[in-house]
Amino acid sequence: MVANAKWLTMENHLQTDGTSTPGIPPAARLVTEVWGPFRTLLAARRNLLEIIPEAVTRRPIISGRTGGVRWHMVAEPEALRHILRDRLDIYPKSEVIKNILEPAIGQSLFIADGDHWRWQRRAAAPVFRRRSVDGLAPIMSAAADTACCRILAGSGRAELHGEMVQTTFDVIGGVLLAGERKLDKEFVHGAIEAFLASAARVSVLDIAGLATWIPRPRQFFRPRSLKVLRRIADDVIADRLKQRDRPDRDFLDTLLDGMDPESGRRMTPGELRDNLLAFIVAGHETTALALAWSFFLCAFDVQVQKRLRAEAAAVLGGRTAGAEDVPNLPYTRSVIEEALRLYPPAAILSRTACAHDQICGREIRAGDTVILPIYALHRHRDLWDSPDSFDPGRFSGDTVIERYAYLPFGDGPRVCIGASFAMLEAVIVLATLMSRFRFRRIRGLDPKPVMVLTLRPSGGVHLAVERI
Ligand code: HEM
Repeated sequence: MVANAKWLTMENHLQTDGTSTPGIPPAARLVTEVWGPFRTLLAARRNLLEIIPEAVTRRPIISGRTGGVRWHMVAEPEALRHILRDRLDIYPKSEVIKNILEPAIGQSLFIADGDHWRWQRRAAAPVFRRRSVDGLAPIMSAAADTACCRILAGSGRAELHGEMVQTTFDVIGGVLLAGERKLDKEFVHGAIEAFLASAARVSVLDIAGLATWIPRPRQFFRPRSLKVLRRIADDVIADRLKQRDRPDRDFLDTLLDGMDPESGRRMTPGELRDNLLAFIVAGHETTALALAWSFFLCAFDVQVQKRLRAEAAAVLGGRTAGAEDVPNLPYTRSVIEEALRLYPPAAILSRTACAHDQICGREIRAGDTVILPIYALHRHRDLWDSPDSFDPGRFSGDTVIERYAYLPFGDGPRVCIGASFAMLEAVIVLATLMSRFRFRRIRGLDPKPVMVLTLRPSGGVHLAVERI
């Protein structure tokens, strides 16, 4: 590892095209020469991944200054542990990402810092315990079956990204909004999608904290449907609070019961609403992306698809997968883990330093933006063999992955609270669909990894589908 990377300014980097190597799935074009702020802005509007310097896949840290903001991109496991775990106190989530999400999810667990974050995390912890999450598997299995029916009714082709967005919404809607008679799920889904689309429009440089100088009217973040959505969530909570002694208690009841064991504090209805929406916003699109990229990669590598199908067929014997099958589907899981390495949905995380510090020998000042380029970390030349290749074998058997070299769910105290929920759902859906269909790439329609808010398959994941 080079401990002493050069201080770069973001002016003028040429790009190399990493997208068309045979046998290598599509990759983003990282920057190889210094660019000025205007060109950086234009590239970022297309694809935030395209402002990551290629050097960050070879060095521990790259620093620069854009539009007056000092920034550091860090891709070194020890340094990442320092930021995410040891000195969480001086690296809170960046203000810009909070500004984007706050109109929808308030000061929820996802956004809050310090004590207000800590007690909410403790209060929500029981909801995400293994036993509670396993209890949600029937909703996940039903959503997988519904996806099979939609694909079966199609024309022999399917767009798997759209399919998986629908499927994961069926799950999160079924989990959090179950049994709400008044609820128009289509409206809720539409409102969430509209919010994510508007957030994506303004997020381009915000995610990296690089363009605080661009003015953004507050209403940019507030599509009209958001107000209605928050009112619907308020109604769901109010209705549930009136029926506290229902016999069959579900995920929402557990959330409502949540209490911080240290302070005895419970969430107010407003805090419950913000967290409910936070789980929908944070959990639905990310899991859909993990699945969409997994389907694409299985179509990309026919041998992997065959092996996954053989595993699913042997374990399921035609059934829909459930929680009890998941321990017997290790290869399916490793395909998802490898998809999360190559295409991490949260491909860039960012923090704002709030005190003086040193990272990899570099001076960090209060106010500096610290960027965690997870996409580049997962393809770092010193951390991975053949980093751009698709090889689920990295995650199987006894292989030990260096902990802070692989961060699809972040790490430290703010690690994704929904990681086991997401993995359970992804394994159930992928194994069920793979045991029933064969998926093939369609020439000229491979997706490209493009990051706007999350790392999406640009153009969609169009695959030919054949019933087995
Ligand atoms: C494959 C799917 C998922 C991925 C890749 C993912 C990724 C992440 C990442 C990287 C973080 C840390 C962000 C940071 O440190 O800046 C995070 C946090 C979080 N995620 Fe997930 N997530 C997924 C699924 C879910 C699900 C299913 C839920 C809920 C049902 C969820 C709820 C949350 C919440 C509430 C936080 C904030 C935790 C805290 O700050 O204490 N996520 N997620």
